[in-house]
Amino acid sequence: MAHHTLPFGGAPVAIVTGGESGIGRSAAIKLGKAAIPVALTYFADEARANAVVAEITDSGGRAVAVRTDVGDEQSVEALFELAEERFGTVDLLVNSAGLNMTGVMLRDMELAQFDRLMRADLYGPFLTCRRMVRSLDSANRGGRIVNISSIHESAPRAGGVDYDAAKGGLAQLTATLALELAPKHVAVNGVAPGMILTPMNQSEIDHPGELTRKEAAIPWGRAGTPDEVADLILFLLSSAADYITGTTVTIDGALSLTVAQGA
Ligand SMILES: NC(=O)c1ccc[n+]([C@@H]2O[C@H](COP(=O)([O-])OP(=O)(O)OC[C@H]3O[C@@H](n4cnc5c(N)ncnc54)[C@H](O)[C@@H]3O)[C@@H](O)[C@H]2O)c1
Repeated sequence: MAHHTLPFGGAPVAIVTGGESGIGRSAAIKLGKAAIPVALTYFADEARANAVVAEITDSGGRAVAVRTDVGDEQSVEALFELAEERFGTVDLLVNSAGLNMTGVMLRDMELAQFDRLMRADLYGPFLTCRRMVRSLDSANRGGRIVNISSIHESAPRAGGVDYDAAKGGLAQLTATLALELAPKHVAVNGVAPGMILTPMNQSEIDHPGELTRKEAAIPWGRAGTPDEVADLILFLLSSAADYITGTTVTIDGALSLTVAQGA
């Protein structure tokens, strides 16, 4: 797909964390089908990850699934080593792996819970971005990073101190890194989804009444799909998005604009 030719030359190679499920899965499949080799990570479900790889290879693309805990330095190192050995220097990175908020108020939250969420949602992008940047530096190449945040990076919810703090931190990690890497032409952007129908919202998917109630609060009148988010991710990775860096793009059907309405 000419649209995905990168401005800094060479054949692009992608890593998608959380590529076994939801938004990461859609992004990995779209990249694979655009003839970009993809190393996608899985955490829990090898069969689901293998099914994503099969969908890509069946359409003529190249993909590999790698078991990775994104919050673990050695695990991230092993992921990049395998991807580089198989496909070459990684110049596209999508950080989609993450855990959802627990709904536990701070006074009741165990440190271990806060730590688990921070490791997945904030340390993960720190570790993968750092590893990618180090190898781009030695290869003297540009690149693209998309970090999947959430509208809750700036719209807090009671019971979300773990998630909201991690995503707020991720927004600043994205912006800071964009500044550091602009001279090297590595673009770093965030995507902040609202309610997207993925396994993260399985209880709404399984209970249509609950889904209808939540969708009624979304001005656009419905939840989003993982493919809609993946299309935005692919745009940000493409040459069409050259010169966009350091920003977070909201994709939420105007949900995050509904604060302070009607009073
Ligand atoms: N679905 C939504 O409504 C929504 C809204 C806003 C933001 N997001 C964000 O989008 C991203 C993708 O979420 P999704 O909706 O596709 O959910 P999902 O649950 O389908 O996918 C998340 C994936 O991350 C993996 N994961 C969790 N912890 C990990 C770890 N430590 N190491 C490696 N992998 C790990 C899970 O196994 C899962 O495969 C997340 O960062 C999430 O916070 C989702």
